[in-house]
Amino acid sequence: MNYRISPSILSADFARLGEEVSNVIAAGADLIHFDVMDNHYVPNLTFGPMICEAIKPYSSVPMDVHLMVEPVDDLIQSFAQAGANIITFHPEASRHVDRSLGLIKAQNCQAGLVLNPATPLHVLDYVLDKIDMVLLMSVNPGFGGQSFIPNTLDKIRALRLKLDEYEQLSGRRIAIEVDGGIKVNNIAQVAAAGADTFVAGSAIFSQSDYKAVIDAMRVELAK
Ligand code: DX5
Ligand code: ZN
Repeated sequence: MNYRISPSILSADFARLGEEVSNVIAAGADLIHFDVMDNHYVPNLTFGPMICEAIKPYSSVPMDVHLMVEPVDDLIQSFAQAGANIITFHPEASRHVDRSLGLIKAQNCQAGLVLNPATPLHVLDYVLDKIDMVLLMSVNPGFGGQSFIPNTLDKIRALRLKLDEYEQLSGRRIAIEVDGGIKVNNIAQVAAAGADTFVAGSAIFSQSDYKAVIDAMRVELAK
């Protein structure tokens, strides 16, 4: 299995963001996760496309942009132009989910839907053909450093079954990313449930040695 670790810069030092991104890529990050919050869809405020654009020269790996904004559509082109490779959004924040996915694809980005802990999997029905990745939230969105919600493991297993069925019919494999409370001591369980892409913010950026954390996660994933 080709596992990917996507460090969330939400927990990085914003005064030294370019350096932080270079360092975490040197430490083994496969993607860089950008948490975009608007103080409307979620009760917190982070950054817009200007930051992605500023970080682009430091990011030799794909930029994984998680939009926690409402509405969604107006920002898609700006983030794509700022260098986003993957853009995901929350379906309840878009009035026309199929259209928003189409706008992302039209920018030649990979597209994904983000499901909150209480959002059922059936929101994915009828749009799987437009999705490259499903992002399952294992905390409620808005803040880094929260604890992993254990029910997510059942949800990952159910989603893996659903996506395996779809892969058999279509030949397309859709990735499962999990976001929130991922640590060295639970990443193996999350992978065993069927996830392949792991967001980690506080687990990585709270430590001084990013490589040690990412290496420890890979050891767990290899078990
Ligand atoms: C929460 C964000 C997450 C968060 C993860 O809304 O989507 O990406 O930063 O942070 P940790 O790994 O600290 O839970
Ligand atoms: Zn996120």
